[in-house]
Amino acid sequence: MRLDKFLSVTKTATRSESSKAAKSGNVTVNGAVEKNTAVNVDPENDRICFFGQPVVYRKYVWIMMNKPSGLLSASNDKKEKTVVSILPPPLDSMELFPCGRLDKDTVGLIMITNDGELSHKLLSPKKHAEKKYFFKLSKPYDRQAGIENGIIMDGKLTKPARIEMQDELSGTITLTEGKYHQIKRMFERAGSKVIYLKRISFGGVKLDPSLRAGEWRYLTEAEEETLKKSADNAKGI
Ligand code: URA
Repeated sequence: MRLDKFLSVTKTATRSESSKAAKSGNVTVNGAVEKNTAVNVDPENDRICFFGQPVVYRKYVWIMMNKPSGLLSASNDKKEKTVVSILPPPLDSMELFPCGRLDKDTVGLIMITNDGELSHKLLSPKKHAEKKYFFKLSKPYDRQAGIENGIIMDGKLTKPARIEMQDELSGTITLTEGKYHQIKRMFERAGSKVIYLKRISFGGVKLDPSLRAGEWRYLTEAEEETLKKSADNAKGI
């Protein structure tokens, strides 16, 4: 990885700040001053210091985005903008991917990462990590349909869900799996239609209310820990 990219992904400095610091002799690689930020470094084995401070490299990036309507939950797409393509450099070229999918018109919390293993665990129905959504319906749904107990979808029974109504037409639903259009299909089965859907938490991590649509930030270490625990300890609904 290029030295300037390394300093950028570790949130140490922007490309131009790195170049300035290096030219003035304030960047060292394994103890030697490095003035050229285009050189390649080995993030896991080289010891890199910025103004004398060692730069800690974390292999995995975890980002939360408040997804706006209209973006695809994908890494890239030939025609349309995706949640990854709107990230600034060098993040847009770091082989990041969304952890799970939201429909194009669904908004709210989407995690973006390069950590395939944890991502896989969080999405596995066997691990039961919870995903909570706020919804609005076109008309009251038929509670007798018992959709939260499980319905046959794609030939299989869905896992139990938790629905908490806030009024006749809106509430929250918590799932531990993510079948295609699952919530929309569940409410359709109970005679209603989802007209607004926003994910508000994922694996115990809540959407940061200060993020406006299209904004993102890195997860804190505590949030990353919460995700890991959620992938390991979840019990189901
Ligand atoms: N269920 C849906 O129907 N859509 C989503 O985007 C997520 C869950």
